[in-house]
Amino acid sequence: MRPPRTFLRPLAVGAPAPVTEIPVKPSRMIHFFDPSNEKMAAKVPDIAAKVDIILGNLEDAIKTEMKEAARQGLVDIAKKTDFGETQLWTRVNSLDSPWVLDDLTTLVTEIGDKLDVIMVPKVEGAQDIHYVDRLLAQLEARAGLDRPILVHAILETAQGMVNVEEIAGASPRMQGLSLGPADLAASRRMKTTRVGGGHPGYLVRTDPVSDDLTEGRTTAQQDLWHYTIARMVDACAAHDILPFYGPFGDIKDVVACEDQFRNAYLLGCVGAWSLHPVQIDIAKKVFSPDPADVAHAKRVVEAMGDGSGAVMIDGKMEDDASCKQCLVMLDLAKALAERDPELAEAYDL
Ligand code: GLV
Ligand code: MG
Repeated sequence: MRPPRTFLRPLAVGAPAPVTEIPVKPSRMIHFFDPSNEKMAAKVPDIAAKVDIILGNLEDAIKTEMKEAARQGLVDIAKKTDFGETQLWTRVNSLDSPWVLDDLTTLVTEIGDKLDVIMVPKVEGAQDIHYVDRLLAQLEARAGLDRPILVHAILETAQGMVNVEEIAGASPRMQGLSLGPADLAASRRMKTTRVGGGHPGYLVRTDPVSDDLTEGRTTAQQDLWHYTIARMVDACAAHDILPFYGPFGDIKDVVACEDQFRNAYLLGCVGAWSLHPVQIDIAKKVFSPDPADVAHAKRVVEAMGDGSGAVMIDGKMEDDASCKQCLVMLDLAKALAERDPELAEAYDL
């Protein structure tokens, strides 16, 4: 690890100074598009206006023979599109692939001024972030950028999970982490064949009620991702960076997608990936606080005054700690309301 005194020094002569705080911007959905697909690329300006983050994907889901077209497509789209307040991200190919060096070199030097965050897949430890960190500094210096591009790591290998805390703190560029349930399942040798979400076989069952072991016993499906998301959220919160749930592959099952997103929201995630326009609305609904929760939070904060002591509201005890939870809710509501007049009205802010 770099010593504290040098942690915030640029890693190349002429590179911009690292940020001391990760900017907290609306980040409810990271919407993925394939820049090699001309039909999809033509829709980017319209979709960008509807999402918090739009991401040009160069990694998995892009066929080998389309890798270069996707990279060039992203350069062309970024140059001609005004993204307004919407953040532009990319997911580059993995660090062990033959494409990633050209991905980083081309994107930073051609459209580095437009790119907010680079998502790095299959990160296994701090060493992967250190490699990208130094290379980005060199490229930013070459491109004459005046602000650093941030880095987002996908947690999708068993090694990455074991090293999640050192990854989260590996560089001042670290913006956040996403759970990649599909690759992680493969890396862990889980016996699932899905992209995220639950599995009906992962359950608990009540005790037998008679000699017939099949009679009168209820079962409840359990959450395959609870441990992983909670661990990722702790690593992110401890390092003041942002956690996200990743993909939910069953596009038709909008109900289970909403459940998965809500579990992540309640555990502390700020957003999730959207792989199809239908998931944009789900993420918007789930990751924007419920107006009733915001109204309650306002009541508690007002009643608590300077935040010390305790008050009773509707028969429930509220104190410093519940007031702090309410402030988390209110801060998020205010940040979203600043950009969305409908939410500002719903929250009465
Ligand atoms: C995402 O990249 C995943 O593997 O789930
Ligand atoms: Mg993956």
